[in-house]
Formats: sequence, C-alpha cells, structure tokens
Amino acid sequence: MLSTEHKAIIRQTVPLLEAGGEALTGHFYRILLRDHPEVRPLFNQAHQASGEQSRALANAVLNYARHIDQLEALGPLVGQIVNKHVSLQVQPEHYPIVGACLLQAMREVLGEDVATAPVLEAWGAAYQQLADILIAAEEQAYAANERQPGGWRGARPFRVQRKVPESEEITSFYLQPVDGQPVPSHQPGQYLGLRLMIEGVELRRNYSLSAAANGESLRISVKREPGGVASTFLHDRVHAGDILDVFPPAGDFVLRPADRPVAFVTAGVGITPAVAMTEAALAQCREVHFVHCARHGGVHAFRDWLDAQAERTAKLTRRYCYSEPRPDDAPHAEGFLSREQLADWLPDSPEMDVYFLGPRPFMQQVRAHLRGLGIPDDRVNYEFFGPASALE
Ligand SMILES: Cc1cc2nc3c(=O)[nH]c(=O)nc-3n(C[C@H](O)[C@H](O)[C@H](O)COP(=O)(O)OP(=O)(O)OC[C@H]3O[C@@H](n4cnc5c(N)ncnc54)[C@H](O)[C@@H]3O)c2cc1C
Ligand code: HEM
Repeated sequence: MLSTEHKAIIRQTVPLLEAGGEALTGHFYRILLRDHPEVRPLFNQAHQASGEQSRALANAVLNYARHIDQLEALGPLVGQIVNKHVSLQVQPEHYPIVGACLLQAMREVLGEDVATAPVLEAWGAAYQQLADILIAAEEQAYAANERQPGGWRGARPFRVQRKVPESEEITSFYLQPVDGQPVPSHQPGQYLGLRLMIEGVELRRNYSLSAAANGESLRISVKREPGGVASTFLHDRVHAGDILDVFPPAGDFVLRPADRPVAFVTAGVGITPAVAMTEAALAQCREVHFVHCARHGGVHAFRDWLDAQAERTAKLTRRYCYSEPRPDDAPHAEGFLSREQLADWLPDSPEMDVYFLGPRPFMQQVRAHLRGLGIPDDRVNYEFFGPASALE
C-alpha cells in the first residue's frame, strides 16, 4: 500500500508528467535499451523510433498518477497492457530492471532539484504497486493459457504447413504444432506472438489470427512491410516445413457474443482479425456488414474468400472502396471512405456492433464517421497494430 505522503507526492508530480512525460519515457527507453540487451528483443525498434511506444508508456504513467486514489478506474488500460505484455512474454524478473531505469530517467531528466529523494521514493513505491498489479494479472493470463485444452506457456514450436498469397503484399502462414497436439480455441480477433532469430538477432512480433479456431492449426497473414525486418524475413526466408516459435494467443479485441448485426470496417492488412471474426459471426448466423478499403485490387486480400461467403449466405454484405483503383478494378466506391458512403453501406439502425482497424489516419476518420452516424461508443471496438494511442 502506498502511504498518504507518497500519494500526495504522486499527485503533485502530475503537472510534470503532463508537461514532460514523453521526454521522460523517451529517455527511459534509451537507458533501458542501451544498458539491458536482455530485454531488447521484446521491443519493436520501429515503435521506439516513431515515439509511439514512449507516448503509450507516458500516457499510462500519467493515467496511473491521475488515478492514484482510484486504481479501479485504470481497468481497461491495465487489460490492454497485460495483453500486450503477455503476447510478448514480459516476465516478473523484467520489472525491477524497468523500475530502476524509470527512476534513473526521472533523476536525469527532471534534475535533482525536482527529483528529490522523497519524490524518487514515492515513485519507487508507486511503480512497485503498479508492477505488482501487472505481474499478478500477467501470471493469471499465463496460467489460463496453459490450463485450457491445447494450451501452453512460453514458446511452442509450430511448423509452417503452407504459405498462401492473399494479395500482392499479404501472405498467409498456416501453422501446425510440431508436437501434433491440439491448439486452444482462441477468440476470433486475438493475436499471437512470434519469436524470430534473424541473422543471430532475436526479435518478437505480434500477428492477428486470420482464421477462426479449429483446434488443430493457426493462421496468420502477414503484410510485407517495406524495410520491415520480420515481415520481409517471413515472406522471403520462411518456407513450408520451417519451424517458428509461437507464444499463445492474447488480446481483447474480440467478437463479443450478441445477436445484433455486426459491421467490420477495415483497411489494408487491418482486415486480418476481421476475417476470423466474420467466420465466427457467420457460424453464429449473425448479420455481417463488411466494408474494406484498399489502394487497389492487387493489394486487396481475402476478396475471393469474402465474395465466396457472400455467395453462400445472404447474411453477409460486403463493400469495397479503393483509393487508387487500377483500370480493371471494379470497387463499390473510389477514393477515401466518406461518411456518406459508410452511412449508405451500414444498416439504417445504429443497433449494431462495429469493429474497425487499419492505418491510424483511416482509424481516426472511421471513428469520426461512426460518431457522426450516431453509433454509441460502447458498440464500437478497435485495435492498433502497434502501441495504442488516442484517436481524437
Ligand atoms: C496486435 C497486433 C496485431 C498485428 N497483426 C498483424 C497482422 O495480422 N498482419 C501484419 O502484417 N501485421 C500485423 N501486426 C504488425 C506486426 O506486428 C509488425 O509490426 C509488422 O509486421 C512490421 O514488422 P516488421 O518487423 O516487418 O517491420 P519493422 O522492422 O518493425 O519496421 C516497420 C517500419 O518501420 C521502419 N523502421 C524500422 N526500424 C526503424 C528505425 N529504427 N527507424 C525508423 N524507421 C524504422 C521500417 O522501415 C518499416 O517501414 C500486428 C501488430 C499488433 C500489435
Ligand atoms: C509498471 C510497469 C509497466 C507499465 C506501466 C507498462 C506500460 C506499457 C504500455 C502502456 C504499453 C503499450 C501497450 C499498447 O500496445 O498499447 C506497453 C507495451 C510494452 N511493454 Fe510495458 N509496461 C510496464 C512494464 C514493462 C516491463 C517490465 C517490460 C519488460 C521489459 C515491458 C515491455 C513491454 C513491451 C515489449 C511492450 C510492447 C512494445 C512494442 O510494441 O514494441 N513493460 N507497456
């Protein structure tokens, strides 16, 4: 438990975090990644370079400091952090390392006049309190993953059974456990963690499961990212028969049970979890409205699959919007997705659940469109293919 004095100091430091939280967390990551090579593989360097990861951490620390008297208000934030940590296998022994670097960054960025001994002591105690919450929640998730039928803890070797191109940029990898045992029933929308060794360097990445659970295998669908280390490696150097280390599925961007119609609004590779959710929603006989945006037909993944589903059931409507159509393309609309277009394509009644995912600017637009269409926020779900950030 934090003392009253500790809490008072944390509350007093909120303005400091508001003003300079990102500088602090940026410096923190520099120290962490410089002095602790053992945790480097967990962190995506691109997220560091773009500042997204520092912003996400600064935001979390700020929220924590603001809610130091009512930790229950942190609920959704804790869940999101825990899922990301679990998917990349953050362990209890990592917490003291991160805590020490955070305090060192406070000392170095804020200076000794501000980061006095009592301030550092209060933050040390506050960090420990949050670390205890996260460690306990993460252990619960690791244990739950291990307990479920077909479940496991840590890395499990999976063989690439086959690779199937889904578009000019996206390829699916069908993965089967080497031990021949079942795999757990992941929830549609969840993602897994991959541990790769590339030129002797370990790195970890998340990939959404792009097919509903079948008990035997998993499927991920990876976009070749120009200059991207893991995706280029997977596309060019991983072949059928190769073995990949897989961490268990995690994530709470999942299809929630309901009878209402459900809409998916996706762009680019953001389509992957929505494919798994569509498969599950159709199996539950839900009405599904699928809106997908792509540059053109050549990079539009899963079109044949969606079209085939729509042939099979009247429960599915699908609309495609291309921003740079090729001459042979015949999308339902061209340009960027407008609010009018979306209104036209979604059911008239706002009584539906919506799931959306794509590049950040697309997500900002869709968020605004959905608000404009009067769809209540609590019916709207989204996820980022990177550290979470505000969409407003
Ligand atoms: C929950 C979740 C689900 C995901 N699901 C999917 C999915 O289903 N399919 C999918 O394809 N992806 C998915 N991703 C994204 C995936 O995890 C990877 O981020 C993606 O494959 C890119 O990784 P990479 O190693 O190829 O690229 P990186 O090496 O991480 O590079 C990404 C970009 O940043 C640039 N870059 C890299 N390092 C630096 C640097 N130091 N300075 C400046 N620029 C740099 C690169 O040139 C490249 O353009 C998901 C991510 C999350 C968090
Ligand atoms: C109290 C301590 C911690 C807090 C508040 C915290 C907070 C966060 C937040 C907010 C995110 C972003 C989540 C998202 O994707 O939206 C994150 C991601 C992450 N955290 Fe932590 N974290 C803590 C401790 C740790 C520790 C001990 C490690 C292990 C070294 C760790 C490793 C990571 C990694 C690897 C990611 C993903 C980074 C990426 O996307 O590149 N964190 N954390």
